Amino acid sequence: MEALAQTSARALRNVRCVSEPLETQAQLSKEIADLDGAPGDQPRLDYPPYRSSLLRHPAKSLVHADPETIELWAPCFGHQDVGASEADLTIQHSGEPIGERIIVSGRVLDGDGRPVAHQLVEVWQANAGGRYIHKRDQHPAPLDPNFTGLGRCLTDADGTYRFQTIKPGPYPWRNHRNAWRPAHIHFSLFGTEFTQRLITQMYFPGDPLFRLDPIYQSITDPAARDRLIATYDHELTQPEYATGYRWDIVLTGGHRTPTETE
Ligand SMILES: [Fe+2]
Repeated sequence: MEALAQTSARALRNVRCVSEPLETQAQLSKEIADLDGAPGDQPRLDYPPYRSSLLRHPAKSLVHADPETIELWAPCFGHQDVGASEADLTIQHSGEPIGERIIVSGRVLDGDGRPVAHQLVEVWQANAGGRYIHKRDQHPAPLDPNFTGLGRCLTDADGTYRFQTIKPGPYPWRNHRNAWRPAHIHFSLFGTEFTQRLITQMYFPGDPLFRLDPIYQSITDPAARDRLIATYDHELTQPEYATGYRWDIVLTGGHRTPTETE
């Protein structure tokens, strides 16, 4: 029986070895360093250190469609559909989620610094342990029964959005051996039409995983990728309740926030 258990364990190890990526972080980091500083203030479509980007990105030009025609059949949302409580990711279940409670707020601005009012801002994120509620996320971190990780709100007349949530943890992924994503929150911004959607990620200051992460580094201009990092803002905090991070999103112009390509 013991021999059988040992054989099974060895077989399991072998299976895991076959399916695990072999490339090391050192190899990936060298590739990242070789490309660092190249022109590019938006995520690269084909950034070799981000392995799946090579086959996944569009190889042909976009087919431009008439935006007004799309509006005849595309989904839409009404401002009345977005409830105020949906911006609080910590109250969606019967108990308190585990982790550091944070407030994330900022303004959505155009390239001239003007506020973009009544914009739908949606977020999704991992829990404090770095785990998503998703069937493909099976790494051995705990799910939190009190945290789903989805929220949304509308910007106010001043372009300000505000979420209360839990600081997400870093999580492993299978780009290479022992690959870890820096903690981040995914953001989606909808304009007034279905074709006006931007998707990006917000990061937390001082994360030691930045320089190791091919997704963050796929924006090869250091100044541009730094625009994805929120700043700790003590004015946003709530005494004895939550810390605060501020992150503005600029939609156009030279200081535009990097976004993922359609
Ligand atoms: Fe993520």
